[in-house]
Amino acid sequence: MSPRIVAIDGPAASGKSTTARRVADALGFEHLNSGLLYRAVAWAAREGGWLQDSGDGRTDAVDRALPDLGLELVPGADGYVVRVDGREPGSALRDPAVTRLASLLSARAPVRRRVNELVREEARRRDVVCDGRDIGTVVFPHADLKVFLYADEEERARRRLLERGEAPALEAVAAEAGRLRERDAADASRSLAPLHPADDAVRLDTTELSPGAVVDRILREARSRGIRPRHV
Ligand code: DC
Repeated sequence: MSPRIVAIDGPAASGKSTTARRVADALGFEHLNSGLLYRAVAWAAREGGWLQDSGDGRTDAVDRALPDLGLELVPGADGYVVRVDGREPGSALRDPAVTRLASLLSARAPVRRRVNELVREEARRRDVVCDGRDIGTVVFPHADLKVFLYADEEERARRRLLERGEAPALEAVAAEAGRLRERDAADASRSLAPLHPADDAVRLDTTELSPGAVVDRILREARSRGIRPRHV
């Protein structure tokens, strides 16, 4: 049987990667976070001085450097680690400047091709739960299960702040919600692989749901499609 694929898409801070990790653990699948790969390209672009943080600069330099960029997904005990030319950027991938550049660079065809090749190659070898923006629409249109997560913007902003250990005070929530809105607008309006739910995706509004309830719901959907845990 060919490896199984669960695709989880959604806007920024909708809980995709935490959910994908938990669903993957429950099923005994690998968790593939495609956003980390876009972030890794953005990190490399900053390190290599190809682009300014504003995105101005030699965008063609990014396209030229990409084929020689050593981008790797290395399976570890705690999921995949992303390596860039043998280095592990780790938490630097979450840097706000990297986050902004990742969104900008993800609109470029050569960048998308490179990330998609890596993700598809992994999914040929293992059962995966893969999260991103276009996983159910473009990367794996024949995924065994597609989920699209969303939540109120303010709730997503609040969760993001708590995740970073910051207090969700009114002003901070409004500022974070503004950043999320900007990034979602860019990710959803680009011409290439824009963020939108696949027609056959299960759409889940998680605003009022606990993380555990979201995972349980997805596992129910998986069972109903004959996707069984590997290790049981
Ligand atoms: O999921 P994330 O926030 O780590 O993703 C970072 C950026 O990468 C996001 O702004 C859009 C882009 N991305 C994408 O275009 N397609 C994906 N499948 C995953 C991420």
